[in-house]
Amino acid sequence: MVSRVGEPELKYLICQHVWESASHGRFIRERGRELTGFGKSESVRPAIWKVFHEAAVGIDPDAVLAGFYTVLKPYLLANYQHYLGATHHLADWPSRKLVEEFIGDEERHLIEIAPWLKTGPTINVWCAHLRVALESIGQPGGQPAITPPPDFSWQHETRPYAHPETCNREPYPVCSSIFSPDPKETPIVREWLADPQTDARVIRIMIYVWLMMELDAVDYLSTVFVDTLEAPFDLHHDLARHLWDESRHSQFGFRQLPKHGVDLSTVEHSLELYNILVHMPPAERYAMMTMEFEANSFPTKALIMDRVRELNDFEADTLLAFDRNDEQNHIRYGHQWLPVIMKLCGHEEPVEEFVKATRANFAKLAEIHGNKTPHSLSPEQRFTGEKILASIG
Ligand SMILES: [Fe+2]
Ligand SMILES: [Fe+2]
Repeated sequence: MVSRVGEPELKYLICQHVWESASHGRFIRERGRELTGFGKSESVRPAIWKVFHEAAVGIDPDAVLAGFYTVLKPYLLANYQHYLGATHHLADWPSRKLVEEFIGDEERHLIEIAPWLKTGPTINVWCAHLRVALESIGQPGGQPAITPPPDFSWQHETRPYAHPETCNREPYPVCSSIFSPDPKETPIVREWLADPQTDARVIRIMIYVWLMMELDAVDYLSTVFVDTLEAPFDLHHDLARHLWDESRHSQFGFRQLPKHGVDLSTVEHSLELYNILVHMPPAERYAMMTMEFEANSFPTKALIMDRVRELNDFEADTLLAFDRNDEQNHIRYGHQWLPVIMKLCGHEEPVEEFVKATRANFAKLAEIHGNKTPHSLSPEQRFTGEKILASIG
């Protein structure tokens, strides 16, 4: 769903909701372990994956969004409400407070998403279909399942989910890459970032563009969930945190650039990494992200932090410190979860060997699928390194 919707604000909101719901799941797991002993490696029941899988194959992004938010999440909310009503007099205080929090969060999610939801005949038909699919596993409040009518069929069985070939960024202009050696071509010029002569204000704008473009990590990381439905809950919990972190990093740029006078409608979004990674198996996608891009970003970002510090800009320093701290966690996630994702996806070789082969595969796929998105805007219209330099006067 994340890569299919275009507006960054909507992607950010979905990532926030994913993380909050994953946090609810963690609390439930921790309390559940105290009560009955369900363990760390517990996964979602196959009947529930089946509904999730169905929800992912909606005809268009608006239908998928409406399906999740008007069918699946209200169902979850109704179950929390039922549970609270049924156990209120039995539950201990912390459990009751937790469920009240979950209900408050789920109700807020529905309010926050409302401005983004659309209606229409196709969307209504899709939501009605998904409701039948969902109620075939049970109704809220433990009411019995309803057998679907004879003409019902699971659409993902005949039309399996496939990731979109490219990610949606409408209404923003797009390009292949925001990095190049030419300040007339792209906003980020790597040589300028490393050059001590570059004005620190130029570096600050460049790192905000870089951070905003971490939206590509949001788009390609979101694809890993649907490719690892059988994963243990803790893996999805950490993927949800990782996803939310990347959406925060992108928001740092998205919110700060206009404050520095940048018109976001002139900043092209790079689609390169998504377009290449989507052709790799999920374990390779996750390996490139954590073991290559994130692991290798530290030296340049450390240099940038030092330069930005010259500006005494508390907000910029804080955002960059958050980014560095989060990236350290992401690399830890990579070490912990890559072997698990490899196993889930049937890769049996040692991790190091796998990562080496993945790098080679990425280089090969970059030749085929890389550099295929032309600039939406002319050099005069688009935001470039040259314009950053001119803007600081
Ligand atoms: Fe990031
Ligand atoms: Fe990251």
